[in-house]
Amino acid sequence: MPTPNFHVRDLPIYGDTILSPMAAYSDVPFRAICRQFGAAMNYTEFVPTEALLCKPNPLWRRLDVHPAGEQPMVFQIFGNDAHTILRAAQRIVDWGADIIDINMGCSAPQISKKGAGVGMMRQPKLVAETFRLLSRHLNVPVTGKLRLGWDEANQNYLEIAKIMADNGAALVALHGRTRSQKYRGQADWDAIAKLKQAVNVPVLGNGDVRTVADIDRLKAYTHCDGVMIGRAALGNPWLLGRIEREQLTFGEITAVLRQHLYEALTYYGTTVGLQNMNRHLKKYLSGLALKPFLRGFRNVETVPAFEDLLCEMETAVPSHLPIAKLRKIPHFPLPVGAKL
Ligand SMILES: Cc1cc2nc3c(=O)[nH]c(=O)nc-3n(C[C@H](O)[C@H](O)[C@H](O)COP(=O)(O)O)c2cc1C
Repeated sequence: MPTPNFHVRDLPIYGDTILSPMAAYSDVPFRAICRQFGAAMNYTEFVPTEALLCKPNPLWRRLDVHPAGEQPMVFQIFGNDAHTILRAAQRIVDWGADIIDINMGCSAPQISKKGAGVGMMRQPKLVAETFRLLSRHLNVPVTGKLRLGWDEANQNYLEIAKIMADNGAALVALHGRTRSQKYRGQADWDAIAKLKQAVNVPVLGNGDVRTVADIDRLKAYTHCDGVMIGRAALGNPWLLGRIEREQLTFGEITAVLRQHLYEALTYYGTTVGLQNMNRHLKKYLSGLALKPFLRGFRNVETVPAFEDLLCEMETAVPSHLPIAKLRKIPHFPLPVGAKL
């Protein structure tokens, strides 16, 4: 029997790499690919509580779960009123949530300035009431994802995390930036280390993990229980399995790309599936001299046309070629007579 890396209340978590929730990216198809490489738990994209309390609408889809199962599955929601958050959580808990997570990190002004997302961090009483209510009334663990605080002068993540833990939170995830930093500057790993010392629930460290070495460095530096990976996992699900993209061959990349395409087509259907895939394709091929192909993919409207272009690209680029080497090649197709 494998040993769990940590528990979220009574839920065992096997593994220590976790795909960050990312609106427009961490959907059912991409999560399926990341899970295959070892992502230990899956977060949905965040959903506003108001959207969950009215009639069915497209945001509900964000809480879909892959038919093959994704346990443990974390549903992430955000709001600015404890009772509304509770009602929304009660409504969705039977839709397949193993854990309910409260987003307290979103920095978008239309959310944070209304007191939701990172705006919750300015309201310790709201945080206490939300976690007290949810942990009392839900039968699944409740967790939260934070930033350092509102701005450099107001970094209250330790105070908020303690309030969360004292009121029943089963895990705290910390993105080591303030709201005012958005995604700029460097994530503060010292803060993640301090948080781990300060609370007796599992801590996920998040921010600026780009390589396999970063995963291990963040763990060793902070003693966090798990590492949450966001932007660097886009087009690079291998990172969740501690596989460096640079070591892969082009053929290994396109094999996963194709698998992702079929997950997207199955889930979204052709039109939306192809649009969705284009977003990811840019990431899978980023840094490679394949701009003409990328332009071509933007214009395809049918699956056979997409497949044809994929085959054309695979013919132009030798599949055994390691990515590190491919980076140094100025463009494809190669000029006649060029040697690799
Ligand atoms: C496109 C995008 C969408 C995001 N959406 C969410 C979200 O829905 N919920 C959330 O908690 N964080 C969201 N985030 C923040 C990430 O989860 C993560 O905290 C942040 O990107 C820092 O991690 P990284 O340096 O590994 O990217 C989003 C980030 C990006 C880039």
